[in-house]
Amino acid sequence: MINSRAAIYPGTFDPITNGHLDLIFRAARIFERVIVAVADSKGKTPLFNLEERVQLAEEAVSDIPGVEVVGFRSLLVECARSKGVGVILRGLRAVSDFEFEFQLAGMNRHLDNELETMFLTPSEKYAFISSSVIREIARLGGDISPFVTERVNAALVQKYSSLPR
Ligand code: COA
Repeated sequence: MINSRAAIYPGTFDPITNGHLDLIFRAARIFERVIVAVADSKGKTPLFNLEERVQLAEEAVSDIPGVEVVGFRSLLVECARSKGVGVILRGLRAVSDFEFEFQLAGMNRHLDNELETMFLTPSEKYAFISSSVIREIARLGGDISPFVTERVNAALVQKYSSLPR
């Protein structure tokens, strides 16, 4: 029997944005437990290391009941299993997300048939943002305050001020 009361929301979260948070808020109204699972995603060479991304996510969700954050370097299905979760949650912002999400969901089902992937759509306010767009604007000194928490904004400013342009 699938544990439908708990969901895992995986991603690279480099860094967590208000679009991710919008999805987490929605998920927390449906599931008793929501585990935000921050993937190492070495292949994406993230700007923030895993520990930094986990910390930023933890700070961002600290006020949302039933939400916890974990970092993982394993397969997602292993992380989900170790947490006793039955549902993988992903966000669909636009049709362009679908192909990748379809592949991911299919592969995760192949790896663990007991897990179901479910999709939520974020508010249209956030349909056009992504972590890489946010990073790019922050790197070039643009205003990202409508799209991230104050803490994430400060972390981006600090990170880019310590890196060569
Ligand atoms: N609001 C704003 N942005 C969103 C969003 C939302 N609601 N949902 C997704 N995005 C953005 C992300 O910021 C990210 O942007 P970027 O690529 O510009 O940085 C992009 O959409 C999609 O990335 P993300 O949600 O971080 O997922 P991902 O594609 O990096 O993550 C994993 C994929 C981590 C879930 C997948 O690689 C994984 O499961 N890895 C673990 C190892 C594993 O099991 N691999 C086999 C999988 S079959």
